[in-house]
Amino acid sequence: KFRNSDMVSAWSEELVERLAADMQEAAEAAVNEGGVFHLALSGGSTPLALFHRLALHHFSFPWRDTHLWMVDERCVPQTELESNFYTLHQHLLQHVRIPYYNIHPMPVQLNERLCVEEDGGALLYENELNKLVNGSSFHFVLLGVGYDGHTASLFPGSKPEEFGESLVVLTESPAKPHQRMSLTFSAINRARRVALLVMGKGKHELITQLSRVKDKSDKYPVIGVKPANGRLVWYIDYDALLG
Ligand code: 6PG
Repeated sequence: KFRNSDMVSAWSEELVERLAADMQEAAEAAVNEGGVFHLALSGGSTPLALFHRLALHHFSFPWRDTHLWMVDERCVPQTELESNFYTLHQHLLQHVRIPYYNIHPMPVQLNERLCVEEDGGALLYENELNKLVNGSSFHFVLLGVGYDGHTASLFPGSKPEEFGESLVVLTESPAKPHQRMSLTFSAINRARRVALLVMGKGKHELITQLSRVKDKSDKYPVIGVKPANGRLVWYIDYDALLG
């Protein structure tokens, strides 16, 4: 058990297999229940192995009934390596048969204002989410965690209460690119299922600290991930767990 949630740990390859299987099970259950699977994916480098695994076995996954959302985005053009959408497209979307109208990139590049004005792109994305996702509750959210304990683009020092009831906000990252758009904990914690994927020896120190701290979500924002009616599972590989 890891901080009152479920934890799965294994060597990285097996861990990714397990996460892909759990995601597939959630997808099939959602499609059987309501004909659609709403999936929100994070950026960063950790999910790449999962994207490759999903791309390789794409025939067995209900991609046609999947809606793809972004957990967060960096305010850069969609053609840049730093764009989470670009990464997602290169490593997953171009390999699977997902209808283009089911893909929901965060609107950060159509117009510069969308990423700087509070009522710009964040509000557009929130409206899209409210319109298409039942109860704005994703079936599955995949998160990563940064060395400083940030998750999505919610960084240490940002106070979740500042965001009020907003589901999508603009934030500032201490690292480049600074301007970000991100789901908030209000959005993340409505999900039916949240997976937190942590891999690599570099994350061992963080995992050790997280297992010791109490509720200090402004120091380690990831602690704010607490689905109200859903399930949180940490997927931690042995490198991150054991160092
Ligand atoms: C982003 C992410 C972010 C990420 C962590 C971990 O856009 O940067 O969504 O929250 O998950 O920074 O990143 P790594 O997987 O690269 O360590």
